[in-house]
Amino acid sequence: MDELLRATGVCKHYVLGDTCIEVLKGVDLGVVRGEIVAVVGASGVGKSTLLHIVGGLDHPASGTVVIDDVDLFALSDTDRAKFRNRQIGFVFQFHHLLRDFTALENVMMPLMIAGISSDEARVPAQKLLRDVGLEKRLAHLPSELSGGEAQRVAVARALVTKPAIVLADEPSGNLDVARSAELHALIWELARTRQQTCIIVTHDQHLAARADRVVEIEDGRLVA
Ligand SMILES: Nc1ncnc2c1ncn2[C@@H]1O[C@H](COP(=O)(O)OP(=O)(O)OP(=O)(O)O)[C@@H](O)[C@H]1O
Ligand SMILES: [Mg+2]
Repeated sequence: MDELLRATGVCKHYVLGDTCIEVLKGVDLGVVRGEIVAVVGASGVGKSTLLHIVGGLDHPASGTVVIDDVDLFALSDTDRAKFRNRQIGFVFQFHHLLRDFTALENVMMPLMIAGISSDEARVPAQKLLRDVGLEKRLAHLPSELSGGEAQRVAVARALVTKPAIVLADEPSGNLDVARSAELHALIWELARTRQQTCIIVTHDQHLAARADRVVEIEDGRLVA
């Protein structure tokens, strides 16, 4: 078993005034290479919090996250940001595309941040946009795309660096049911054909059922 990700004893709480909300109370999660794991659980249970910590966007109060033998929170902030840019692809609930850049430029961006020239970045970015069915929308700004199209650009952007792992947080949260099913199917197909390791947060039972494994967060812990 070739383990890519190992989270151990992850705890997280939020303090607001004199109340403390304990969200994660010691989460352990391992993901092997090529695996697609679905994370489910009631609203507010800590799914996004876990994804942010596993992706190095947020610090746990205690616990460790190791990806590809790299201990995320032992890195300096700068090194962790670099690691994130190269090895982790995020699809957020809302697409967070850069509004002043075209679809193509948005997908090229992670490659260019990693130091790849725009000429070299353009080729894989165009290919991925073709794979998500947007070859005719390369020059559109986010405001000139439909919600579903913008999400597909975000999916292409998350995959373009060939990251070690893709973390998708309810990518369809703001789409209607049909669009959402379509987008789920697309992420699944892309992940499967690229053997892309993936953690997907979802409320959708049908989607979760297609994962290699489903884990549920309940009362701050993971249950299988
Ligand atoms: N910055 C913050 N400050 C205080 N509390 C927070 C903060 N972020 C999240 N929380 C609380 O932590 C809990 C977990 O939030 P989280 O966003 O991880 O839930 P979730 O499982 O993703 O929910 P949903 O399914 O609705 O997206 C919630 O109760 C939320 O109110
Ligand atoms: Mg959430």
